[in-house]
Amino acid sequence: MLIELAKAGDLAAIAALLREAGLPNADLDAGKLEHFLVLRGADSTTVSGAVGFEPHGSAALLRSLVVAPAQRGGGHGEALVGAVEARARRSGVAELYLLTTTADAFFARLGYVKIARDTALAALQSTSEFATLCPASAICMHKAL
Ligand SMILES: CC(C)(COP(=O)(O)OP(=O)(O)OC[C@H]1O[C@@H](n2cnc3c(N)ncnc32)[C@H](O)[C@@H]1OP(=O)(O)O)[C@@H](O)C(=O)NCCC(=O)NCCS
Repeated sequence: MLIELAKAGDLAAIAALLREAGLPNADLDAGKLEHFLVLRGADSTTVSGAVGFEPHGSAALLRSLVVAPAQRGGGHGEALVGAVEARARRSGVAELYLLTTTADAFFARLGYVKIARDTALAALQSTSEFATLCPASAICMHKAL
């Protein structure tokens, strides 16, 4: 398994993984893939996981973390988060926010701390994940990089 930058041709496969996991994908387009990473199988074509970030100044929304069901439990989720954090840091991002309904315990192990949703940066509140796609009950988390 290899983690690398997403290509435009990966869009459909990423959207399918997100759909299967019940995660928002309606707003995903080729432009947003600039900040996406994918987990590729040994055949280097199969997309078995993904994660992305949406930068807003020195903060960013970490989004769309997914690992294909058959590949879960092998450390790939943790590796994807580490890789996207490193990439965000290199692009000048100093803090990450995310919304999750199912994986708060997973992210807490990686240093993310629960915060009140309305205390997240104003710029992030206007992203489609915050504004429309994630349920109000989703937990908001924060990590300084
Ligand atoms: C969350 C997800 C990406 C984790 O991927 P993964 O490859 O299974 O994760 P890892 O193997 O790196 O897991 C690392 C550890 O976290 C634990 N973990 C995995 N998912 C977890 C979850 N949802 N809640 C709590 N702990 C979790 C694993 O058991 C493992 O613990 P261990 O080292 O003690 O065995 C994957 O379960 C997934 O795609 N879920 C559906 C989509 C989702 O909820 N995404 C997050 C939305 S923001």
